[in-house]
Amino acid sequence: MKRSRVNQIMAEADEMIRRFGFILPPFAYWSPDEMRANRSAARRVIERRMGWDITDYGQGRFDTFGLFLFTLRNGKLADLQSGQGMCYAEKLLISRKDQISPMHRHMIKAEDIINRGGATLAIQLHGSNPDGSFGENVAGTVLCDGLETPFEAGEILRLKPGQSVTLMPGDWHAFWGDGGDVLIGEVSTVNDDLTDNIFCEPIGRFSDIEEDEPPLHLLVSDYESLL
Ligand SMILES: [Fe+2]
Repeated sequence: MKRSRVNQIMAEADEMIRRFGFILPPFAYWSPDEMRANRSAARRVIERRMGWDITDYGQGRFDTFGLFLFTLRNGKLADLQSGQGMCYAEKLLISRKDQISPMHRHMIKAEDIINRGGATLAIQLHGSNPDGSFGENVAGTVLCDGLETPFEAGEILRLKPGQSVTLMPGDWHAFWGDGGDVLIGEVSTVNDDLTDNIFCEPIGRFSDIEEDEPPLHLLVSDYESLL
């Protein structure tokens, strides 16, 4: 994906987020130079990969296969393992109309996916085989706003604004905006996108960036190379 496209997606996302009365934290608006100048004070932001995350899953067709994310907060895996402390994370996502986030599950992370506003959020679900692999014909049960909701293999949940689903580590899921763009909240256990996403198809988690103009803000996937 070209950097100019990433910059454009950031500006469009910021506009949509504000339209729904939500505002990103101050570090979201730092330029790359400000991020470098604040590197020491912001070391937890950098270590925990908080910030802008725009992915086309390495496929180069963001409009139909991609996701906007901003990680607002993220705890420590060691805290989760010890059973106390900052075990949680929170993200804001935008799924555009018919823009697929591909089928995946998580190893450790449980996540609530919440429709915060906009169109309907479609989420397709499958259970896992006993070895954790994708269960083509495996049904299951999820919690929707705390209520037990059984699903058939491949069933599509349709969440209206205000509705949510709790996905446990074995629950395979793919999602997209149904009829329009959707602002999505994610509340989860500690998040490590480098190791915790198991995709059904062999794809990447981050975008390959072609530098055609300076970055407006750094992506979390830029922290290692550009800071
Ligand atoms: Fe997920």
